[in-house]
Amino acid sequence: MMVETAPLGRFQYQKLEFRRWMQAFLSSHKTLFTVLWIAALASVFVWQRNAVGGRFAVFWQVPMRPIPRLRPVAFNLTDFGGVGDGITLNTEAFERAVLAISKLGKRGGGQLNVPPGRWLTAPFNLTSHMTLFLAEDAVILGIEDEKYWPLMPPLPSYGYGREHPGPRYGSLIHGQNLKDVVITGHNGTINGQGQTWWKKYRQKLLNHTRGPLVQIMWSSDILITNITLRDSPFWTLHPYDCKNVTIRNVTILAPIFEAPNTDGIDPDSCEDMIIENCYISVGDDGIAIKSGWDQYGIAYGRPSMNILIRNLVVQSMVSAGVSIGSEMSGGVSNVTVENLLVWSSRRAVRIKTAPGRGGYVRHITYRNLTFDNVRVGIVIKTDYNEHPDEGYDRKAFPKLDDISLLVVHGLGVRVPVRIHGSEEIPVRNVTFRDTSVGITYKRSIYSSVPLLKVV
Ligand SMILES: *[C@@H]1O[C@H](CO)[C@@H](O)[C@H](O)[C@H]1NC(C)=O
Ligand SMILES: *[C@@H]1O[C@H](CO)[C@@H](O)[C@H](O)[C@H]1NC(C)=O
Ligand SMILES: *[C@@H]1O[C@H](CO)[C@@H](O)[C@H](O)[C@H]1NC(C)=O
Ligand SMILES: *[C@@H]1O[C@H](CO)[C@@H](O)[C@H](O)[C@H]1NC(C)=O
Ligand SMILES: *[C@@H]1O[C@H](CO)[C@@H](O)[C@H](O)[C@H]1NC(C)=O
Ligand SMILES: *[C@@H]1O[C@H](CO)[C@@H](O)[C@H](O)[C@H]1NC(C)=O
Ligand SMILES: *[C@@H]1O[C@H](CO)[C@@H](O)[C@H](O)[C@H]1NC(C)=O
Ligand SMILES: *[C@@H]1O[C@H](CO)[C@@H](O)[C@H](O)[C@H]1NC(C)=O
Ligand SMILES: *[C@@H]1O[C@H](CO)[C@@H](O)[C@H](O)[C@H]1NC(C)=O
Ligand SMILES: *[C@@H]1O[C@H](CO)[C@@H](O)[C@H](O)[C@H]1NC(C)=O
Repeated sequence: MMVETAPLGRFQYQKLEFRRWMQAFLSSHKTLFTVLWIAALASVFVWQRNAVGGRFAVFWQVPMRPIPRLRPVAFNLTDFGGVGDGITLNTEAFERAVLAISKLGKRGGGQLNVPPGRWLTAPFNLTSHMTLFLAEDAVILGIEDEKYWPLMPPLPSYGYGREHPGPRYGSLIHGQNLKDVVITGHNGTINGQGQTWWKKYRQKLLNHTRGPLVQIMWSSDILITNITLRDSPFWTLHPYDCKNVTIRNVTILAPIFEAPNTDGIDPDSCEDMIIENCYISVGDDGIAIKSGWDQYGIAYGRPSMNILIRNLVVQSMVSAGVSIGSEMSGGVSNVTVENLLVWSSRRAVRIKTAPGRGGYVRHITYRNLTFDNVRVGIVIKTDYNEHPDEGYDRKAFPKLDDISLLVVHGLGVRVPVRIHGSEEIPVRNVTFRDTSVGITYKRSIYSSVPLLKVV
């Protein structure tokens, strides 16, 4: 093109020439169009980079962030016919991949890489010695139509689906009787598309309890890290009767209102568990440690114990940042919660139970809690009367004992502490140390009154 060569030489000698060159340049429609096109692309590029930090890479064909090899054998979901267009159903691709990996157990297992894309699927099961790796911008999407969600028997320690009697929907990603399962990635997402479920639930159109997003049952050596979980139909991540579970650097999101029962993580009858470095903002409890419901939980008899929760940022406008209960009939003991920030929430930490639960909550330590703009800081409630049926034992009183709150600070907290024991359910041996919680008398007026100082 002429504009690129001939005029450029003269441009250095005379301003007049430059003006002429510019006129010629701009009068060429083709060139003008090209310039505008590049300018538009560049601004979109800048905007995209600012908005989503590097997602534009796909457009520019910048090579994908390389996926580490974490097992001796790695597969790509596309090897099994997966199509990441957000429309094609990939259930069979996932199932075929899991079947292939299930044959590799003796050789150290297998890894399934989910590349960038939107991978719609119905619920599927994991297998032992498996790593599910979600690339950056990989999204596993749960299908919205409930007829694709298989029904499963109720959890034995609940006797019922949590919302309806009888069977319940299984989880989108499910596992039973497994060992050595890893779900990880470059912050890829598992998205339950809960909106349809929440709406149907509110309109009472569902006949069965909604399914969790990820549920692993009767399993051990589970690692869930470096991913995002969002918009679960029901509880988001539900490890049930598992041992040795690590959840690290996971983001869990759901709308803070009108996303019913979207708890973040529900350790349920689990032992030896660590939850750390997570960000959770959901429509119910951020974390709720459980161990079964009334007579069913008592009969099942599996406690949640040896649980360490640390370095978390949690928001819960509807419920609490970190809860224990209300289903705790198998007992809960030796739980440490430290370096927790709860912000813009209704309650920060809560223990909830009721007559009929039985079981116990003991040896619970909260250390270094920060409450920023929460309505009620610390809650212990013993009349959370929600029962599976009339068959519960009214004399099964839970025991609450040995609870320490060390270093608790807050700002903008309306009620710092609310502890309601009863004659049947006394709350025993609660220790407060180094606690100062600034209370709000009215919205937006903060005062740092050290309300509690018990040493
Ligand atoms: C998976 O396969 C697709 C299509 O062949 C390819 O574009 C992509 O780079 C592969 N991804 C991984 C993680 O191997
Ligand atoms: C997963 O496995 C369990 C137990 O075998 C079974 O009940 C359930 O239907 C399976 N789910 C799917 C989606 O295949
Ligand atoms: C947490 O995950 C993100 C996204 O995968 C990653 O960039 C970050 O380095 C991880 N942080 C830690 C401490 O592992
Ligand atoms: C992971 O992705 C989520 C949602 O896209 C985002 O909010 C979060 O900040 C990301 N985490 C990291 C560590 O990049
Ligand atoms: C619930 O049950 C009613 C009556 O049996 C039925 O008409 C309806 O389709 C069911 N809804 C779902 C979501 O299964
Ligand atoms: C716990 O599970 C991890 C894998 O997540 C494994 O590396 C570790 O050895 C297990 N610990 C025990 C005590 O079995
Ligand atoms: C999580 O991501 C960080 C940063 O990429 C990495 O160092 C770490 O090993 C990852 N964790 C796991 C368990 O893959
Ligand atoms: C209590 O739990 C921690 C993990 O948080 C564990 O290291 C410790 O051994 C447990 N203590 C007892 C007495 O079991
Ligand atoms: C207390 O927790 C906050 C996060 O909420 C953290 O920044 C701080 O370092 C912790 N303090 C100590 C002494 O660990
Ligand atoms: C009360 O709890 C503290 C730790 O929280 C424990 O050290 C102490 O022994 C308990 N006291 C009684 C009387 O049980």
